[in-house]
Amino acid sequence: MSSRWTRREFVKRAGVATGALAFGGSIAEFLAACSSGTTGGGGKNALEIFSWWTAGGEADGLAEMFKIYKQKYAGVNIINAAVAGGAGSNAKAVLATRMQGGKPPDSFQVHAGQELISTWVKADKMEPITSVWNSEGWDSVIPKDLKTIVSKGSDVWSVPVNVHRGNALWIAGSSDQVTPNSVDTLDDFLSSLGKAKAGGVKAPLALGSKGNWQVTMLFENNLVAVGGADFYRGLFTGSSSWSDNNIKTALNYIKSMLNYVNSDHATIDWDQAAGRLQANSSLATIMGDWAKGYFTANKWTADKDFTAVPSPGTAKTYMIVCDTFGLPKGAPDRDNAINWVKVCGSQEGQAAFNPKKGSIPARTDVSPSIFDPIAQRFIAEFKTDSLTPSIAHGSAAPEAFASGLNDEMGQFVQKKDVNGSAANIAKLADQFLK
Ligand code: GAL
Repeated sequence: MSSRWTRREFVKRAGVATGALAFGGSIAEFLAACSSGTTGGGGKNALEIFSWWTAGGEADGLAEMFKIYKQKYAGVNIINAAVAGGAGSNAKAVLATRMQGGKPPDSFQVHAGQELISTWVKADKMEPITSVWNSEGWDSVIPKDLKTIVSKGSDVWSVPVNVHRGNALWIAGSSDQVTPNSVDTLDDFLSSLGKAKAGGVKAPLALGSKGNWQVTMLFENNLVAVGGADFYRGLFTGSSSWSDNNIKTALNYIKSMLNYVNSDHATIDWDQAAGRLQANSSLATIMGDWAKGYFTANKWTADKDFTAVPSPGTAKTYMIVCDTFGLPKGAPDRDNAINWVKVCGSQEGQAAFNPKKGSIPARTDVSPSIFDPIAQRFIAEFKTDSLTPSIAHGSAAPEAFASGLNDEMGQFVQKKDVNGSAANIAKLADQFLK
């Protein structure tokens, strides 16, 4: 049994400043991303918000917050500068170009932890939002664990708008081959997939691995499943080794899963993979709960048309993915940006955003009754589960490690070389985590 990570331990890893900026996609994606970038500064009385929320569910959540902003601050011209590509696989490069070129958006989506602290705060590109945090009284409604991973020194640098769960298995309600009872362990899961395939389902497990980060999610979830939460967290504090046999075991489980996925996985993203459940060609997919936002945006009802359980072998752990917004230095519409940050941290904003986004609110005073039953379970589990920070979504490790790992996972799905990838991952850890 693993213990819940204490706040101090969580912070120690999620807030340590050691990273460098790196882009995790191909050169072609990088160029495409750069050419789609906007120039910043929306003219008179504008508010330019940068994110990668373009898919079903996430785009709807963002639109809800824009609605609230417009009601409160009429006359502000909101510019939605979202760049498509799950997990920011294109957006992060566009943002980096803009920030380095002195053309920041007014506010941008950034993950709590290393992605915020060891890139933008470390590079001195952010203004603290401490005074907003205090005047809005967020200490009394946002858990201290979350505040700590958006803090450095005596300052707070962004406000968490949600908490996503990265370790979730989504099961089509129509499936009687993969069921919540058949997936407690990775071996159970593989055996259900095997039966489904033998029964004629060609690709029971939907995967969209465009950008590779989705495979990093399989890897981090498998690490928790095979090693436990303490082992996983120890990889970032130095108490576990990246040469441990658990690394190979986790990779081997991905290799086995790949026998059951759609052959075009490298060309599709997470939302198209979720769509395969709705099209009845796959039975399950492993993804963060933004997939729930996608399903409900596409008219599926939670716990009726689909359901969710912790990804195989990870019950009682919660892989944290936390989206936040802050204030870049030189924001062209600074006052409007401060008001945006206030909406992101408000009860009204989080109550409108999270049910559509698929996440649970960062605030503790948003009533669970406005959420679907899966989110209600997740809200309850978040309070007691052991928390693990995600590598794929910026909290656990510096950006350079995360993007190096994404590249390695891209190699792994092609070559399926467990020993080779394990050795390369250990090298990355030596280079970027020490
Ligand atoms: C994550 C982000 C989520 C969701 C997801 C898919 O990095 O935290 O909010 O957008 O990517 O794009």
